[in-house]
Amino acid sequence: MNILVLGSGGREHALAWALAKSPRCDVLYVAPGNGGTADIAENVPDLDVMDSEALLAFVRERQIGLVVIGPEAPLVAGVADGLRAAGVAVFGPDAQGAQLEGSKAYSKTFMEQNGIPTARYATFDAAEPALAYVREQGAPIVVKADGLAAGKGVVVAETVEAAEDAVRSCFDGAFGDAGKTVLIEECMTGPECSLLAFVTNGRACCMAPAQDHKRAFDGDRGPNTGGMGVYSPVPIVTSDEMDAMTRIMETAAAATAREPFDADYRGVLYGGFMLTPQGPKIVEFNVRFGDPETQVVLPRLESDLVDVMEAVAEGRADDIDLAWSDTWAVCVVLASEGYPGSYEKGKVILGIEEAEDLEGVTVFHAGTTRNADGELITAGGRVLNVVALGDTFEEARERAYEACDLINFEGKQFRTDIGKRAAAGRAAWE
Ligand code: AMP
Ligand code: GLY
Repeated sequence: MNILVLGSGGREHALAWALAKSPRCDVLYVAPGNGGTADIAENVPDLDVMDSEALLAFVRERQIGLVVIGPEAPLVAGVADGLRAAGVAVFGPDAQGAQLEGSKAYSKTFMEQNGIPTARYATFDAAEPALAYVREQGAPIVVKADGLAAGKGVVVAETVEAAEDAVRSCFDGAFGDAGKTVLIEECMTGPECSLLAFVTNGRACCMAPAQDHKRAFDGDRGPNTGGMGVYSPVPIVTSDEMDAMTRIMETAAAATAREPFDADYRGVLYGGFMLTPQGPKIVEFNVRFGDPETQVVLPRLESDLVDVMEAVAEGRADDIDLAWSDTWAVCVVLASEGYPGSYEKGKVILGIEEAEDLEGVTVFHAGTTRNADGELITAGGRVLNVVALGDTFEEARERAYEACDLINFEGKQFRTDIGKRAAAGRAAWE
């Protein structure tokens, strides 16, 4: 069948790569796509992923059998609803389901209603009461913009002053409408773990766990980013914690299909967990594949992704059968200098082929494009995702970093410690 993937990041390159491996995949389109998807699929740069009608026209014209929605923005805007109403098979929840990511306040209410453990919190629509609450609670404390902010609307404040600044900046419009409501949360401690599940018809089928590195710099310092590196599986998770996380994902999936939530949830539910001393708690739900989690989870999936996604899109939970390889996968993100703040674009990228010649190495593109001369250039904050598979965690890490050294562009910035803390064991979090 012909398949259309929506999005332009490393996640979408990994999705396209996994779909293209299936013998069932005929013509694969990615809209808008990036410099990497152009090599394995047909990019559709002018198709607006937020425009259901344009998408529907494209689906009809190209006889698309499955639409896979990568990013959250079209999901929150109801693009899945529009396509599904016209009879198209879509991988991605409806707008109601997407509220789990579209509004952090809404998501918290959902967790409370369903007994899902999460950080204590309060919501505010104005600065003064929020500032008073911050002073009363003290630091450390977490300040979050309610709406979508590309992973940058969260400040884990070590001091009351930093929390006050974060509150003011939200209400001053740093995140536009997304910051009109502000959540203030108890600061949880412990390692983080992402557990993604295919969800359809109220049922969850969990994938392999992964651990992202959200902070910009080594040693988990610096501002939060969309994710600077990730690995899978996660050796520091105990089997009791894995069971607890799986139960939470199943509870959440069941609740999506029931009153009062009552969503048409057919896609991925991303559980962002913190493994606290009281057990796993949800930091956030996302309603799509994680970026960069997808880049380490899909290379370890042995099942045919087209079969899985079609079953999800058609509500056939019993037909989802996930098999995983027992390899290790490590992904290091190569970013532009300045990310997650402002950065320059248009730097020529060299060395990807040499990196991919290394055993087990695949490079997924995030922010890349080609210039008029056909050269590959940087076009975003996160530029490339260097993924290595290995028989051991150490082997995968070494290969990933060897590959990172072979790739060059001006301002290349990356964390040198992806997976390092986990390799040292759970005690590294104590
Ligand atoms: P979010 O966008 O809600 O996932 O937050 C981004 C990152 O901020 C998370 O991955 C955590 O590293 C951190 N964070 C968010 N909420 C909390 C919390 N309540 N306690 C500690 N860290 C948090
Ligand atoms: N890696 C974090 C996210 O996808 O939200």
